[in-house]
Amino acid sequence: MTAQLIDGNALSRQLREEVAQRVSALKTQGITPGLAVILVGENPASQVYVRNKVKACHDTGMHSVLETYPDSMTEAELLARVEALNADPSIHGILVQLPLPAHIDAQKVIEAISPEKDVDGFHVASAGALMTGLPGFWPCTPYGCMKMLESIGYDLRGKHAVVIGRSNIVGKPMAMMLLAKDATVTICHSRTADLKAQTLQADVIVAAVGRRNVLTADMVKPGAVVIDVGMNRNDEGKLCGDVDFAGVKEVAGWITPVPGGVGPMTITMLMVNTLASAENTLLRR
Ligand code: GUN
Repeated sequence: MTAQLIDGNALSRQLREEVAQRVSALKTQGITPGLAVILVGENPASQVYVRNKVKACHDTGMHSVLETYPDSMTEAELLARVEALNADPSIHGILVQLPLPAHIDAQKVIEAISPEKDVDGFHVASAGALMTGLPGFWPCTPYGCMKMLESIGYDLRGKHAVVIGRSNIVGKPMAMMLLAKDATVTICHSRTADLKAQTLQADVIVAAVGRRNVLTADMVKPGAVVIDVGMNRNDEGKLCGDVDFAGVKEVAGWITPVPGGVGPMTITMLMVNTLASAENTLLRR
């Protein structure tokens, strides 16, 4: 193995300790950061995610509210809950867990969240702020990837970054964040003609597709930094990423493992965003 590991668990622990300290400081000023998490339906993966989000709030000293509703909840009912939480001063972050049942327009619900409480960073106002360099919440997963690059002291200026995947949640915001740090950014996707030709040019590769072995050793320039956002299951049912870890770690300079890489960072950045939202209320006092 030539690559050094970027340990998402260790970095998460460190960042969550810093969050907990800032939460304590805020409490002395009479503000307890609060996150509301809404889960509609009984998607088992979503149930695990929301439980971990609520636990992270507890561990960092934040207030959290978990609202669970049956699949039969209507869009109007959900919008009414979002409105109530927008107006609730004890709540600084609102997270509606996705996916939502098919009869609810997820984008409409996201747009109903006050941008000041959009700690997921999914609102068009948050996306626009990221694109234009204005203050706003950044989506947690790409934000976590940036923190991982920062943790190894990586200077992105003038580097070539290749993002594989163009989702609104990861690929597109990731590209904007890398661009803001003066990287030259290429976004690749399922219609990219020659993915390998692109990745072989890359100093940094972020794989965010949701498919195993999208990136193999022959596609990586020696010494490149490889960030694996994927969360898949292999044939034995074990968690694995989008990157062929066993092969790529022999070529890359740095690599994030799955599990224990980007995964824990996503919830950590949700805590960071919720804390920042609560701290922002001080400025508006
Ligand atoms: N579903 C999967 N990941 C996420 C996330 O980061 N936020 C929300 N709201 N739903 C998700």
